[in-house]
Amino acid sequence: MEPISFFSLENQHRSIHQELIEVFNRALRKNRFILGDELEAFEREFAQYCGTGYAVGVSSGTEALHLALRACGVGKGDQVITVPNSYIATALSISYVGATPVFVDIHKDSYNIDCDALEEIIKKGKIRPKAIIPVHLYGNMADMSRIVEIGKKYAVKIIEDACQAHGAGYKGKKAGSFGHAGCFSFYPTKNLGCLGDGGIVTTDDVYIYRELQLLRNYGQEKKYYHEIKGFNSRLDEIQAAILRVKLKWLDHWNRLRREKAKRYNALIGEIEQIERPSENPYGEHIYHAYVIRVKNRDRLREYLKERRISTMIHYPVPIHMQKAYKDLGYSKGSFKVTEKCASEILSLPLYPEIPFHHIERVCESIHSFIQKTS
Ligand SMILES: Cc1ncc(COP(=O)(O)O)c(C=O)c1O
Repeated sequence: MEPISFFSLENQHRSIHQELIEVFNRALRKNRFILGDELEAFEREFAQYCGTGYAVGVSSGTEALHLALRACGVGKGDQVITVPNSYIATALSISYVGATPVFVDIHKDSYNIDCDALEEIIKKGKIRPKAIIPVHLYGNMADMSRIVEIGKKYAVKIIEDACQAHGAGYKGKKAGSFGHAGCFSFYPTKNLGCLGDGGIVTTDDVYIYRELQLLRNYGQEKKYYHEIKGFNSRLDEIQAAILRVKLKWLDHWNRLRREKAKRYNALIGEIEQIERPSENPYGEHIYHAYVIRVKNRDRLREYLKERRISTMIHYPVPIHMQKAYKDLGYSKGSFKVTEKCASEILSLPLYPEIPFHHIERVCESIHSFIQKTS
């Protein structure tokens, strides 16, 4: 039986191999590897793609969040609201600036922040957040109209964690163009990925833009003159050059992902025991992950594994239950929806070039599992 991998870059890189080699050679000829014209051009192109005035390339998605928080004035003793079902980097970035993550549970259908719960916790007055980080999980955007409205009402900064949402849409606008800042990761498996670590922050605010430029480059505007205590967190020239090639393909790859997700939806069909991903009615889900929900998830996962089908869980342990965040004092039962999801969600193989016959085999196996177990 042919194995079905969860993700593969093989076909993607084969299809643009020549272009990648050319840009690599171009970068090598220029002999400029840090803060050069490839990065400047990519920042312009990515900002234009997202519909924002500016973009600042940084060294990872985690750094994008960390520096965006700093540029928004978040620091020691502040509270920042986010969700417990994200990659831990969302919370880590808050810890890096000396602030405290305050979690709000997710909505059971979208898996994104529950906006009623969000407003409730701020309205009560016990929490006075300096910022909110909504996460556009799996490529499906959080309810940004509502979140921006709450941000304005309570004078709270909004920093989008768009690390899984390159090109995702909401009411005709793209992820990263709603908040004070939008943060993206270019980790290789992302919808737009480089060949190593990388990230970017988008913004319309010229002050945040200038701060980010200082923060990522040791706090210097002019070489050896340091305005603030900054970091070494830059996106390098070769990665920027590669990302310029890949950006041109992003919409095409996202369309392919949507097609593949549609095929999954059709083949999984209306099985009572399986919940398919829901799409924000205003948005364009770009399926960074295709995530189903099923009660006996671990048995299904094992069954698929026996049939050489790889799956993943995003994420098996919510952030509030991670050892690293024991100090926050949350416990089992603190966030019921998140915890239930963590025990039921399963990410199925999905990438732009996944063959349709792989999807068919995954779905046949799911059907046979359901028949055997019900
Ligand atoms: C939601 C989310 N936030 C933040 C990050 C961190 O990005 P990076 O791995 O580039 O630091 C990721 C990446 O996995 C992510 O999925």
